[in-house]
Amino acid sequence: FSLILAACGTSGNGDDANGEGKKTLKVVTDAAYAPFEYLEGDKIVGFDIDFINAVAEEAGYELNIVNTGWDPLFVEIEDEIADVAISAITINDDRKQTYDFSVPYFLSTNKILVPENSDIKGAADLTDKVVAVQNGTTGQEAVEGLLGTNSSNIKKFENNNLAIMELLSGGADAVVADNTVVEEYAKNNPNEKLVVVEDTDAFESEYYGLMFPKGSELKAEFDAAINKVFESGKYAEIYKEWFGS
Ligand code: ARG
Repeated sequence: FSLILAACGTSGNGDDANGEGKKTLKVVTDAAYAPFEYLEGDKIVGFDIDFINAVAEEAGYELNIVNTGWDPLFVEIEDEIADVAISAITINDDRKQTYDFSVPYFLSTNKILVPENSDIKGAADLTDKVVAVQNGTTGQEAVEGLLGTNSSNIKKFENNNLAIMELLSGGADAVVADNTVVEEYAKNNPNEKLVVVEDTDAFESEYYGLMFPKGSELKAEFDAAINKVFESGKYAEIYKEWFGS
């Protein structure tokens, strides 16, 4: 019976699939956002994945992590099809109206990714350029703040890798996305000759959180577990593995 439920995507609540009395939670993510969540073959890996595994271990849950993509993950949480989302999701007032968030676990800000020879040296230079963003992200909002909400110069993509492809193919002058993501991309793909614009306080600071259905009882349990993962040094260990210090 639980298999049928799982196949319908309505499961995740209360399964005891492993026989150890641990519930399995359905976790949704958009695994196109290295180094936070991405695919290695068909395996979902990344900082966020290691982090939520550590938190779940602390809280006593098994996880079934599913790569739904970005827009669908919000639907799955709102409709309580999934139990929790992790996807470098920024905690903001707008989202808080519909979802509950854990305590923050990562500090971020949007940054501008451009070709090495670009004349874009700061956010102010974006106003007459074509900018690629991932649809429905704080990066999109940040660019809309500069170019206007309905600007036809903003190209929106289903995931951030497609936005970067657009930049590489010359269809956009810049990508705006989370600093860690664009910095790692530029660093790990030297042949693409991309740089991150050093316009330090162009955009606001943001914090990532785990996202739950509104009213979920898991929030309190996960907050406690996150604090333990911070206090035990496990967070620092995972951070070091991914970011070196
Ligand atoms: N932090 C940004 C936001 O919450 C972008 C996150 C995109 N994450 C992803 N896995 N594609 O809007």
